[in-house]
Amino acid sequence: MSFPADIFTEQDANPDTLANLGPLRRLAGIWESGSGVDINPKAAGPQRRQYSERIELQPIDAQSNGPQLFYGMRYHTRILATDEEATFHDQTGYWLWEPATGLVLQTLSIPRGQVAIAAGQAAPDATRLVLTAKRGDSGYGICSTAFLEYAFRTDSYRIEVVFNPDGSWSYVLETMLMVHGRTEPFLHRDANTLVKVAEPTPNPLMLRRAGPARQS
Ligand code: HEM
Repeated sequence: MSFPADIFTEQDANPDTLANLGPLRRLAGIWESGSGVDINPKAAGPQRRQYSERIELQPIDAQSNGPQLFYGMRYHTRILATDEEATFHDQTGYWLWEPATGLVLQTLSIPRGQVAIAAGQAAPDATRLVLTAKRGDSGYGICSTAFLEYAFRTDSYRIEVVFNPDGSWSYVLETMLMVHGRTEPFLHRDANTLVKVAEPTPNPLMLRRAGPARQS
């Protein structure tokens, strides 16, 4: 990977994030589903649970660092198991797209004490995204608490997103865990298909330009 000598000069960013999200445009908005399936590690062996999910993906203002220019969205996903009241899984982060290089990033922040950045490449009109992160990679890696490192070491993460012809989208997550005391890695797998329930809100700069009536 080569970078220019000038690391300070920022790029001219387009104020309209929704119009510049490339392959991520189809993720923008608020989505729901009641048909998720999770396989997670329990002492007795793999546990399969069904879940419902709500994801909000809202555009943020363009982010420029010298030659690096991202358009993206902040997301929050909240998951409930169909047979339990407490939150089953909560996750926040950003989906980012760099038009100049085709780089797609997903950052993950999970409140069991884990963060990750997954990366992939995609064309602006891609109908499928594949992003990966690997423990130990200083770029697109995974960091966990000392306990998780000891008991449920997370070696890799992969997300595949497919945009369906009816406007919905599906994902499959594959998270490889090394569970303390076991000899084989555990495939922690999640899959769901999400249907749009609301359109996204334009990014803050676009709202400001639209005037006081549209500001949040
Ligand atoms: C739809 C997404 C996900 C759901 C619904 C989900 C759900 C769960 C559940 C129910 C457990 C068992 C918790 C327990 O026994 O206390 C678990 C364990 C775990 N998950 Fe996930 N998970 C998801 C995604 C992820 C991702 C993306 C990662 C990391 C990149 C991750 C990392 C872990 C780890 C390290 C554990 C082991 C900790 C433990 O069992 O106590 N999960 N997950």
